Amino acid sequence: MTRLTGKVALVTGGASGIGRAACERLAQEGARVLVTDINQPGGIATVESIGKSAIFQFLDVSQESDWVAAVEQAITSFGRLDIVVNCAGIGFSCHAEEIELTAWNQIVAVNLTGTMLGCKHGIRAIKQSDGGGSIINISSVGGLLGTSDLAAYCATKGGVTLLTKAVALDCAELDYGIRCNSIHPTYVDTEMLDPVAEMIGSREQMVSTMVRNVPLGRLATAQDIANSVLFLASDEAAMITGTSFLVDGGTTAGMPACHSAQ
Ligand SMILES: NC(=O)c1ccc[n+]([C@@H]2O[C@H](COP(=O)([O-])OP(=O)(O)OC[C@H]3O[C@@H](n4cnc5c(N)ncnc54)[C@H](O)[C@@H]3O)[C@@H](O)[C@H]2O)c1
Repeated sequence: MTRLTGKVALVTGGASGIGRAACERLAQEGARVLVTDINQPGGIATVESIGKSAIFQFLDVSQESDWVAAVEQAITSFGRLDIVVNCAGIGFSCHAEEIELTAWNQIVAVNLTGTMLGCKHGIRAIKQSDGGGSIINISSVGGLLGTSDLAAYCATKGGVTLLTKAVALDCAELDYGIRCNSIHPTYVDTEMLDPVAEMIGSREQMVSTMVRNVPLGRLATAQDIANSVLFLASDEAAMITGTSFLVDGGTTAGMPACHSAQ
């Protein structure tokens, strides 16, 4: 349990789902964690589940002043910053012709602008800490493939995919010792899917519909994603930057067989 001893991580969206699991997993391996979110009670619950090595800081990822305050808090409380996990995200589904401009602007602000600000302020603070580091952006399989009813979501997650590669190359060229990678989960049964379950009628029906798209035959868990966050945060991934790391149970590996009797 010492893969991240001495390291300090800032995680956005840490009050729930994948973000909470990532905070817990990083802390289990010795990191001190700044748990951030707009959901204060949820963030505090994450801190309580971790104990003394975590603190909560309110951070709306779309607000640059919040980012300045959050990285300052990490440095003041823990003395350094090594790892940033840009996990906060929102989604909505509708036909492309029905996208409301306010909803579009909001999803771009949180998923894409929020991740850009996390990279910008993460790089600055990690540089100050003088030891290199790792930035991990949670994208989606929707950042690699289109989905007909998720145009806005896919646009933001596709943006995160290429933002990540450009940031990785920039940091490498400038010799900062900072790696930047994106993670692309398939469906994960978190609060983000609550509206989908409601629309479909039940959680069980939603899960059984989604599982049909996952060759490994189950949805991902938040822990599956947190394990890949841990790997990319650790020195075991020292040679990995600019990659799109799939945690999709084979979803994007290819197409179903149709050339023989099944
Ligand atoms: N659940 C899935 O099926 C799935 C699949 C692929 C990718 N993802 C991505 O994983 C990430 C985490 O999603 P999740 O499934 O854990 O969802 P979740 O809804 O459980 O957690 C998202 C968190 O982000 C926070 N948040 C929302 N807006 C914010 C803002 N402006 N500033 C700071 N925090 C904000 C929420 O309060 C919440 O705690 C998201 O980026 C999502 O797009 C999820």
